[in-house]
Amino acid sequence: MTAMAVIEESRTRASYPSLAGKRVLVTGGATGIGAGMVEAFAAQKARVAFIDIDQQAGETIASRFSPGGFHACDLRDLEALAATIGRIAAALGGIDILINNAANDDRHRIGEVTPAYWDERMATNLRHLFFAAQAVIPAMKAAGGGAIINFGSISWHLGLPDLVLYQTAKAAIEGMTRSMARDLGRDGIRVTTIVPGNVQTPRQEQWYTPEGENEIVAAQCLPGRIQPADVAALALFLASDDARMCTGHEYFVDAGWR
Ligand SMILES: NC(=O)c1ccc[n+]([C@@H]2O[C@H](COP(=O)([O-])OP(=O)(O)OC[C@H]3O[C@@H](n4cnc5c(N)ncnc54)[C@H](O)[C@@H]3O)[C@@H](O)[C@H]2O)c1
Repeated sequence: MTAMAVIEESRTRASYPSLAGKRVLVTGGATGIGAGMVEAFAAQKARVAFIDIDQQAGETIASRFSPGGFHACDLRDLEALAATIGRIAAALGGIDILINNAANDDRHRIGEVTPAYWDERMATNLRHLFFAAQAVIPAMKAAGGGAIINFGSISWHLGLPDLVLYQTAKAAIEGMTRSMARDLGRDGIRVTTIVPGNVQTPRQEQWYTPEGENEIVAAQCLPGRIQPADVAALALFLASDDARMCTGHEYFVDAGWR
């Protein structure tokens, strides 16, 4: 058995008493890493609501991990987003933890980008994170604090091809995180970014052949593929009181991909 297999087999997940009963909102929780976080926070006995555009997948995840927790909404529609967050906050009595996870990494070439496509990509990958945060901040302040976790991406750190708008948005998210952390720290609101490496999700499987996956693993320091649960483990820590002095920075879970 390899050393990595031993680690995987003997692994037991941490539990965080401070997360029990916390009111959590995850965007993009119907599939991939988001679904992993819905599952992980529910296992901590948090009260989890999630937003997604994918009705069928959302209902499936809700029925498994968070009955009644799914709220269908297109995050590009800011009026619908505000109304949806208002309904969720009213139902839960507030929101303690916001996880800005949803994004879309469609490939594109510089020459093909129109102003309309630019706007649509920023609406999908950047704008809703700011407005979701803006919507939950008053209740977090009233409650004496909260945690906002934004999702970045290793892609722009590596400079991957055919992703210029996605990577532009993901770079901006790290700047937004630092700015918000400064503005909100005195209110007890911590703002962080999680930077995933290549995580084995159904959507990622569509981009990579087995040979491509092997190339990524070869470029990582650690062998093996990163799973949504590995990313959720970092989100649990950053959302918990154990991370009470963590804010304003980005935290990688990338198996050392360079
Ligand atoms: N999987 C990876 O390898 C990887 C690598 C780096 C960064 N990330 C980041 O991690 C986060 C999660 O990635 P993932 O791989 O789980 O993505 P995914 O595509 O598997 O899931 C994203 C979810 O967001 C939802 N969504 C997308 N656009 C939406 C919209 N307009 N309105 C509502 N819901 C919408 C989708 O329906 C989907 O359920 C993203 O921010 C992504 O950029 C992922």
